[in-house]
Amino acid sequence: MSFASSVRHFQTLVLSFHGMVVIETVEEERVQTLINAAVNDLQMAVFEWSVASGLTRSQGNLHNRWSNEYTPPGIQQPQLIEGTCEPLEVLRHIQSMGYQAIYWLKDFACHLENPIIARQLRELLHQFSHNRSTLVLTGHNISLPADIAQEVVYFDLKLPEPDELYQAITEVLKSLKGRVKVEIHPEGINALVKAMRGMTLQQARKVIAYAALDDGKLSPDDVKRVLERKIQVLHEEGLLDYIPPEMNPAQLGGFNGLKAWLTRARMGFSAQARAFNLPTPRGILIVGIQGCGKSLAAKTIAREWSMPLLKLDAGRLYDKYIGESEKNFRRAVTLAETMAPAILWIDEIEKSMGQSDSDSDGGLSRRLFGSFLTWLQEKSEEVFVVATANDLSRIPPELLRKGRFDEIFFVDLPDEQERVGILQIHLIRRKQDPRRFDLPTLVQVTDGYSGAEIEQVIITALYRAIHEKCPVDTQLLVEEIQATVPLSISRREDLHRLRAMAMDRFVPVR
Ligand SMILES: Nc1ncnc2c1ncn2[C@@H]1O[C@H](COP(=O)(O)OP(=O)(O)OP(=O)(O)O)[C@@H](O)[C@H]1O
Ligand SMILES: [Mg+2]
Repeated sequence: MSFASSVRHFQTLVLSFHGMVVIETVEEERVQTLINAAVNDLQMAVFEWSVASGLTRSQGNLHNRWSNEYTPPGIQQPQLIEGTCEPLEVLRHIQSMGYQAIYWLKDFACHLENPIIARQLRELLHQFSHNRSTLVLTGHNISLPADIAQEVVYFDLKLPEPDELYQAITEVLKSLKGRVKVEIHPEGINALVKAMRGMTLQQARKVIAYAALDDGKLSPDDVKRVLERKIQVLHEEGLLDYIPPEMNPAQLGGFNGLKAWLTRARMGFSAQARAFNLPTPRGILIVGIQGCGKSLAAKTIAREWSMPLLKLDAGRLYDKYIGESEKNFRRAVTLAETMAPAILWIDEIEKSMGQSDSDSDGGLSRRLFGSFLTWLQEKSEEVFVVATANDLSRIPPELLRKGRFDEIFFVDLPDEQERVGILQIHLIRRKQDPRRFDLPTLVQVTDGYSGAEIEQVIITALYRAIHEKCPVDTQLLVEEIQATVPLSISRREDLHRLRAMAMDRFVPVR
């Protein structure tokens, strides 16, 4: 949603007698911009309240945060209305004013645990239902008492749009004038904007200012720095891990069927497909045997498509408070949509959204799964989902129905040709020339071994070679292979069961 449509949406809420709008955000500056833009046409007054400053009549954007002019106290400062710092008092005051306006209450939700304040708020809302005033509540992670929650509407303040980020860069550069050189062209600035998507305005400004001040210039090299900072920021927020395509080294041997399918699916993101009103691909599910490259395939898709990879750590979505986990999920997918086109990778989906043996989580995984299905069905942004799973028996059958994912792939143990690829990739990665090895023999003895097991054998053999001060050769690798019992033997039964369930229903990756 662009900023202009956010403003229109907010205006419509105010005009249609919505007495209370909740905006979950810490970006107060953007709320201010939104409210100011909205009231311009509405010709309404705005009051702001915080427990520290009490109620004040807002004068719009009085302060230009980028100029450093001192304003003596009392001059041009919004006037505090006496006796309104206390939450109960401010509500009573607003009620007695009977004034048609927008009242913005910052971090107010926590006070609503007090039943007297909650009651006073409901009476105020009753008054507002006649006189068309609106309370705007902002804060981080707002949770409201049930009786109040019914009366509010949530307003989704999306993360900053490219034009807002572009403006943030311009403002920062203006404020640093004389101290930094600008060695970046407009396309470079667009690359910076793209790299900053998913950040708040504050975060974006800080990263740009830091990047520019660090070496006295803003240059194309700073795109990488912004990306690195974004990896950190997203990780700290704890919902998504982010790997930019530039830093994704994934290399997948084999999987030719999947690779061919992906080449076709990629067309779905092209301008031509858009011109024909074709739907963009939604996503795929990859099920299969452990260590055979499911996770690696997810990473490879992002790399091949040059898209950012966002790994949803479903375990971290869980929150002890009811409703919070679903909210976390929404936050994560919104973030992914902001960074679209992107790959959203949900690893081991059955662990977080699958059927649990008991109802120990109070139905949480089922609800999360419900949110996920709805989003998957309705999402319009170019977010391609790659979900992976080991345990088919725990995947809710609804997810396996046709039409949920574009395709479901099954990964079996690697065949001969694929084992050649895997051996080559991992030998080269460990600085061993594959031509020095008897690959046909190695391929033969690794029959029944997964990609992960083959990689592990190469690592162990190299350790042994260092220890024994001898070169790694085919013989050494064969010995290590024969000393390892692969899963295909130790867990033969499980494997047969999985194969029987998956073989005819899903598309093989090769
Ligand atoms: N086809 C392959 N090509 C290259 N490397 C592979 C391949 N399959 C597996 N590997 C190696 O094995 C490692 C483990 O693979 P990966 O994590 O993708 O398996 P997985 O199917 O997701 O397993 P799990 O079910 O345990 O999550 C990879 O990091 C990679 O080094
Ligand atoms: Mg995996």
